[in-house]
Amino acid sequence: MLLANRVKKEKSRERVFPLRIREIHSESPDGLRVLFDPPGRDFFYEPGQFLSLLISLDGKIYRRCYSFYTTPKEKYPGIVVRRVRGGQISGHIHSTWKVGDTVNSLIPMGSFTLSKISEIPKNVLLWAGGAGITPLFSLAQHLLHEYPTTQLHLVYANRSEEYTLLRSLSKVLEKKYPEKLRVTHFLENPPSSWKGQIGRIKAHDIKTILQSTPDVLHFLCGPPPMMKLIEENLKSQGVPPSRIRKESFEAGETSPMDIIDPAQQSPHEVHIVFQGESHLITVQPHESILEAALAQDIPLPHSCTKGLCTSCKCRILQGKLGMKKQEALSEEEIQEGYRLSCIGYPLSEDLKIEIDSD
Ligand SMILES: Cc1cc2nc3c(=O)[nH]c(=O)nc-3n(C[C@H](O)[C@H](O)[C@H](O)COP(=O)(O)OP(=O)(O)OC[C@H]3O[C@@H](n4cnc5c(N)ncnc54)[C@H](O)[C@@H]3O)c2cc1C
Ligand code: FES
Repeated sequence: MLLANRVKKEKSRERVFPLRIREIHSESPDGLRVLFDPPGRDFFYEPGQFLSLLISLDGKIYRRCYSFYTTPKEKYPGIVVRRVRGGQISGHIHSTWKVGDTVNSLIPMGSFTLSKISEIPKNVLLWAGGAGITPLFSLAQHLLHEYPTTQLHLVYANRSEEYTLLRSLSKVLEKKYPEKLRVTHFLENPPSSWKGQIGRIKAHDIKTILQSTPDVLHFLCGPPPMMKLIEENLKSQGVPPSRIRKESFEAGETSPMDIIDPAQQSPHEVHIVFQGESHLITVQPHESILEAALAQDIPLPHSCTKGLCTSCKCRILQGKLGMKKQEALSEEEIQEGYRLSCIGYPLSEDLKIEIDSD
């Protein structure tokens, strides 16, 4: 059974928030900025997190993640939805959503936040490409408001000025924090009057930017090739992996990499500890642990199902779990035994996992 079909069955067992659309603004030819009415006192999110919308279309319910560009201090939570060419749900949102409609969402999720960072250094570099600005804008606002000594540099790459999402709000922020926020725009198709950087971000640009700001914490969100280039160059310039935080909206060219032994054709039993209860499930060959758990009526948390959002994070208590190549978990999390159940497969008979509850 497809994951999308199962969601309907699972929905009733998950906490669902109805969100009333308060405002819709056109940000670009393909971008909508949407604000919701305050969802209620028990709705919490952290800067950098996202909503998991449950979108009903043609008799199915689809899950799609949309990051907040707002911070929890603002009255109205907001997201930006870029219409993806050929994209089923982003196109549906663009053509049907109107003020006054109600959409359903799961609780805010995601670990592209500041909560696990023990100390914010003096300099923070935010590398954004296209719609990747959304969670970075939320983090930027939060850092500017809450960390008086932190200096922010936002490096923001786009096709053209008119396709630059949150352009007006970025200008407002730059005016409000002239001493603390620097923004460097890269445009592939700049207007004739353009004084900023031209073209895509290149290796030598990364080197130059890095040299001018030592001791930096980096946040990356953008198209996979851009993120790959920036990460590789940061690492080759000596930036430790612990100083690089990233979030991807789409699977890159490098994933998936199948680590499952094709000769391995027998089912496995997996022991899952979830919400204090123990479950023993059978996972068929080439079925992910998440797929198997949902099929067996255990509503494990999940959203993207592609190894991007970390909402299905679990921890290995014993045994071996293989994962398709992923970029969402940090190296520290992998070392601590965390894995993603949506792209995770049992590799031993004694596998026991616990679902992270934070
Ligand atoms: C953690 C997380 C946060 C996200 N936050 C945002 C956000 O703030 N704003 C936003 O607009 N989107 C965001 N996304 C992406 C969003 O969830 C959807 O994937 C996107 O809107 C496409 O959905 P779709 O149904 O229209 O496309 P689909 O029908 O799922 O895909 C159609 C085609 O488009 C490609 N594709 C899918 N997603 C993208 C993408 N993002 N860019 C380019 N090509 C793509 C696919 O490979 C596929 O070929 C986020 C995704 C994740 C995992
Ligand atoms: S559901 Fe998004 S990473 Fe697994």
